[in-house]
Amino acid sequence: MKFTLVHDLWDRVIADILFITIFEGSLSIKENKPILCLNPLMQQQISNFREMYPRCVNYGECNLIHLFGEFNVRAVLLIGVGKPTDCTRDKLRSLFGSAVRTVHKFSVKTILLYANLAYKFNEIVAAQTILEGIVLGSYNFDIYKSKKNEKIHHIFLAGVNPDSIERMEAALYQIHILTDSVNLCRDLINHPACYITPTFMAERAQNFRKYKKVVVDILKEAAIQELGMNAFLAVAKGSDQEPRLITIRYQGNPTSTELVAYVGKGITFDSGGISLKSSINMGDMKSDMAGAAAILYAMRAIAKLQPKINIIAVLPCCENMLSGHAVRPGDIVKSLDGTTIEIDNTDAEGRLVLADAISYAIQLGATKIVDMATLTGACVVALGNTAAGIVSNDDVFCQKVLTAAGETGEKMWRMPIYEEYKESLQSDIADIKNTGGRPAGMIKAGIFIQHFVKGLPWVHLDIAGVAYLKQVRGINPKGAAGFGVKTLVQLAMGEPI
Ligand code: BES
Ligand code: ZN
Ligand code: MN
Repeated sequence: MKFTLVHDLWDRVIADILFITIFEGSLSIKENKPILCLNPLMQQQISNFREMYPRCVNYGECNLIHLFGEFNVRAVLLIGVGKPTDCTRDKLRSLFGSAVRTVHKFSVKTILLYANLAYKFNEIVAAQTILEGIVLGSYNFDIYKSKKNEKIHHIFLAGVNPDSIERMEAALYQIHILTDSVNLCRDLINHPACYITPTFMAERAQNFRKYKKVVVDILKEAAIQELGMNAFLAVAKGSDQEPRLITIRYQGNPTSTELVAYVGKGITFDSGGISLKSSINMGDMKSDMAGAAAILYAMRAIAKLQPKINIIAVLPCCENMLSGHAVRPGDIVKSLDGTTIEIDNTDAEGRLVLADAISYAIQLGATKIVDMATLTGACVVALGNTAAGIVSNDDVFCQKVLTAAGETGEKMWRMPIYEEYKESLQSDIADIKNTGGRPAGMIKAGIFIQHFVKGLPWVHLDIAGVAYLKQVRGINPKGAAGFGVKTLVQLAMGEPI
C-alpha cells in the first residue's frame, strides 16, 4: 500500500473515490472545508445529496454518491463519524474498516482521503488511525481463489497542515510498516497447515537475518533433543513434520542487560493428539500458531523501526498429531528445567511447548517474559472474540502491556491468580500435570506456565478468542486478525520496559 501526501490543489488528484468525514452537527456544506475545495459542480452534487438526506451523519452511516461528469474521482463516500464527544480512536479505526468494505464491490483501487477531524484529534493521530482502519479493513485473503479481488494500492492524504508535513511523513512510514506486518501475519495464519509447517515458519524467520541488529537461530529436532526439551518434543513426536525452535534476537540496546522474551505458541496444526478434538471446526486449528505468527511479524516491524531495546523471540513450532509415535495421556515427561509433567490430556499441548520455550528463554538470559498463545477454549468462553485474556505475576509489567494494548486498540483483560486454583494442577505421580479441569481453564493454563517463569516478571496473553474470527468485525476480516502484532511493537517502541 502506498501513502502519498498531497498539498495544494488536491482536488486535481485522480483517484477512484473521495472519502470525506462528517461530524454530526457540522451540517452545512458551506462550513465544510474539504468540500469547499472541490470543483463547484462536484460541490453541487454533494450539496444536493445532503439536502435530500440531511440527517445521514450518525456514527457509522456511510453514503456513497456516484458522480456523473468530468470529475477526478468517480464517487464520494460521506462517512458519518457521529458526535465529536463520542468519537474515539477505536471507533474511528473500525469505522474506516467498514467504510472501505462498503466500496469494495466498486473495484476501488485508489482513495483520496480528506479527514476533517482537527477539532477532535491531533491530525497525525487521526491520519494514523484512519489509515490503519483502511489498510487493515480492506485485507482479503484470496490467494487460493481463481478469481481475485481488486486491491486498494494507493491512498492520497489531503488537507494536511503544511507545518506538520515532516512529522506526518514519519508517522506514515511507521503505520506503513505496522499495517504491512499485521497483514503478513494474517496471511501466514490463513494459509493452511499443509504449507505452513514448522519448517516453513523457520524459513520465514530466516529471512529476518537481513535486518540490522538481528540474529536468527533455528534448532532442528536433534538439537532440541540434545537440550532436553522433552515437553516440546512430546507434542511434536506424533507428527511426521519435524519441529523447529526459532529464536530471533534483536539487540537494540547493547549497553543494557535487560532482555525481554516474546514467547509464542507455534502449533501449526492442533488435532488434539490422542485426546482428539471433535471434527467441528477442526480446520480452524491451522491458526494455532497465531501467537508465534504475531511475534514473528512484530519482530519484523521492530527490526525495521529499530527501537532502543533488547528482545528475544522464542517460537517453538510443531504439529500436534496422533500416530503410533504420539504421546499418550498418562505419560510423564521431564521438561527442560527438570520438572516432571504428567500429560493428562494431549490436547493441552500449548502449555507444554511454552513451558520448555520459556525455560530456554531464561537460559538465554531473558529478564522479562511475555508469552502469547491461542491457549484455551475457556478464554473464548470468558471473553469471547472481543478481548484477549491476561494472566500475570507482576502488576507493573502487566500495566505496561495493558497501556500498550490501549494505544493500539487491541483489547485485553487481566484474570486473577488465586492460590485456590493451584491445587488442581497437582499430579499424584509427577511434579505437575498439564490440565486442571474445566472451571477457570484459562487461569489454570496460565498458572501451569507460571511454574516455568521462575519468578521473573511475566505476562501471559491468551489470544484463543481473538486470533481467528468467524465473522468480520471492525478492522478484522473473517479468519486471521493478526492480533498482538501492534501491541508487541508498541511495547517495544514505548518507554523502556
Ligand atoms: N488450541 C487449543 C485452544 C483453542 C480453542 C484455540 C479454541 C482457539 C480456539 C488448545 O490447544 C486446546 O486444545 N486447549 C484445550 C485445553 C484443555 C484440554 C485443558 C481446551 O481449551 O479445550
Ligand atoms: Zn492448541
Ligand atoms: Mn490443543
